[in-house]
Amino acid sequence: MSAFLEGKNIAVTGAGNGIGKAVALLCAAEGANVVVADYGVAMDGSDPTSEVADAAVKEITDVGGTAIAVAGDVSKFEVGAQIVDAAVDTWGSIDGVVCVAGNLRERMLFNMSEDEWDAVIAVHLKGHFNVYRHALAKMRKQETGGSFVGFTSGAFMASTAQANYSAAKGGIISLTKSTALTAAALAMRGGGPINANCIAPVARTRMSENVPFGIEMGEPEDIAPMAAYLLSDAGREVNGQIYTSVGKRLSVWSQPEEVRTMEAPGDRWTVEQIAEMLPEGIGTETHPFIADLERRMAEAAAAADEKAEG
Ligand SMILES: NC(=O)c1ccc[n+]([C@@H]2O[C@H](COP(=O)([O-])OP(=O)(O)OC[C@H]3O[C@@H](n4cnc5c(N)ncnc54)[C@H](O)[C@@H]3O)[C@@H](O)[C@H]2O)c1
Repeated sequence: MSAFLEGKNIAVTGAGNGIGKAVALLCAAEGANVVVADYGVAMDGSDPTSEVADAAVKEITDVGGTAIAVAGDVSKFEVGAQIVDAAVDTWGSIDGVVCVAGNLRERMLFNMSEDEWDAVIAVHLKGHFNVYRHALAKMRKQETGGSFVGFTSGAFMASTAQANYSAAKGGIISLTKSTALTAAALAMRGGGPINANCIAPVARTRMSENVPFGIEMGEPEDIAPMAAYLLSDAGREVNGQIYTSVGKRLSVWSQPEEVRTMEAPGDRWTVEQIAEMLPEGIGTETHPFIADLERRMAEAAAAADEKAEG
């Protein structure tokens, strides 16, 4: 095994299962000291247990790695501080944070309860904020800086039964890009190198077992090397990016930008002028990612109809 993370102190949330666990194990194998942060909950957020984080720590230490457990709820501001402090108090610094903890409350938007919305925003979006906020407060004072890796999803583009999850995952991208920009501003004032990037993974875990139609799939262990790279000195120049990771495939997302412009013929636009000129002037095309999703949903629905007809 190489030693890309030798001597780094890294906190991984959601490190008790699935992708987070694979990231934590690889970070330790690459030489990092790892804070295994996991609330140990069922998919519906129930039955928290410290056994899940403890088991991942044991897996790391059994093979000679170094890890400690924090079994708190990442949606709590103070737990973000505990996770970061665990690394700083035990090993002297926090060199990287990876936010993998996540939950799901799937429901069509028109039936979604306030609790279902709040629970998903709390664990994903606020969970990232809680950890990023406390980690950046430490990293900005470290000569060696640090790294942020957020976990988003292709669902940030749109999702029919997961509007809460989609909104949280979009928010994570904006939060991570804001962290990347803040890092650049801090570097201009003499701060250490800090980078912040997102991974949009797809992997076979308990969270993805109900994915409704056949999508490209891989294993959690396929995702971990990209996270480790972004945490390493080798990846330190990479900042403000979103990478898809699934199986053998790594892809980079485009950076959103205005693509076409039109000017009002008079002092300001009238509704009539917009109605007349917008379709030809700046266009209304569907994003290719959404168009592809629509095609696959239609195929899945047709296949289900065919099966039902026997
Ligand atoms: N699996 C996929 O295909 C896929 C696709 C897109 C995005 N993702 C994202 O990747 C991340 C990991 O997903 P996974 O499939 O490994 O899920 P998983 O369910 O296997 O693991 C999630 C972990 O998060 C922990 N957790 C949940 N709520 C928590 C809380 N409040 N505080 C602390 N820990 C908490 C759970 O105990 C669990 O160990 C998630 O952010 C998910 O949205 C996964």
